[in-house]
Amino acid sequence: MPSRPRILLSRRWPEQVEALLEEGYEVARNVPDRPMSAADMREALRTVDAFCPTVTDRVDAGVLGASSRKARIIANYGVGFEHIDLAAARRAGIVVTNTPDVLTDCTADLALALILSTARGVVRGDRLVRAGDWAGWSPASIYGNRVSGKALGLVGFGRIARAVARRAVHGFSMRVLVYTPRPPGDEQARSLGVEICASLDELLARSVVVSLHCPVTPETAGIIGRAQLARMRRGAILINTARGALVDENALTEALLSGRLAGAGLDVYAHEPEVPEALRQMDQVVLLPHLGSATVETREAMGMRVKKNLDRFFAGREPPDRVA
Ligand code: DGY
Repeated sequence: MPSRPRILLSRRWPEQVEALLEEGYEVARNVPDRPMSAADMREALRTVDAFCPTVTDRVDAGVLGASSRKARIIANYGVGFEHIDLAAARRAGIVVTNTPDVLTDCTADLALALILSTARGVVRGDRLVRAGDWAGWSPASIYGNRVSGKALGLVGFGRIARAVARRAVHGFSMRVLVYTPRPPGDEQARSLGVEICASLDELLARSVVVSLHCPVTPETAGIIGRAQLARMRRGAILINTARGALVDENALTEALLSGRLAGAGLDVYAHEPEVPEALRQMDQVVLLPHLGSATVETREAMGMRVKKNLDRFFAGREPPDRVA
């Protein structure tokens, strides 16, 4: 019997998926379950046939260019792959895959949860009750602003943004505005119930809630900086379930402190797991620990998607989610 390919998981995965992988692969694990260092990743690539990193591992040119490398595929556990240097992977002849589709719904659900909890003061109210400070219902105790029917601006319009748009249009009768460099045609936009903005500035000026849904690329890093925050409507809310590097966190802090923005709902940060102290101090900000895909169903589905890519690759076929 030919020997089973040896694969390394950079973090612990849901148990069921790990067990299924064991059936076809010799599975090595990064036992401390912490982000791997470049030196450890380089060493690993010399001994395994496949490396399965995730968003917490920086797989850069130094890692991918390791001498005497054995690994032929990087099968990422996650849809985003900005932490992997694709150009270096191509130069080194390494295949790279990701896990699209399976986290779309749960990430969109979480974006809606952040919109609602930020606009309606859900977390603030919870804190008040827990602290024993609730004095009972009163007409003047107001915890937020209406969401239904308001203008929601989506920056980027990939799978997750479209899933957010469906929920916002059909669930909350929101007016959904979209800015993306490659907009859908008029007919498609109409059928999705969204309106395309000609520029980011237009979207920022017209939206009461702005939600980010684009990958980090050289073009989008810092796409929401001081100038963009200044163009947002006074009292607007910023939601980010995409990547922290899209936003200038210092500028965001200033916009919140000055009252230009009424709040922010963040699931991602520029330097995870660090979250700026100033943001942690603000009551009008809802802060989550990168939970977009964090449901049992989705985390298992992500693992199964990696397995599918590995199975195809080691059967000598094209993996379905190849990005390099
Ligand atoms: C991804 O898949 O890129 C997420 O950010 C991790 O869940």
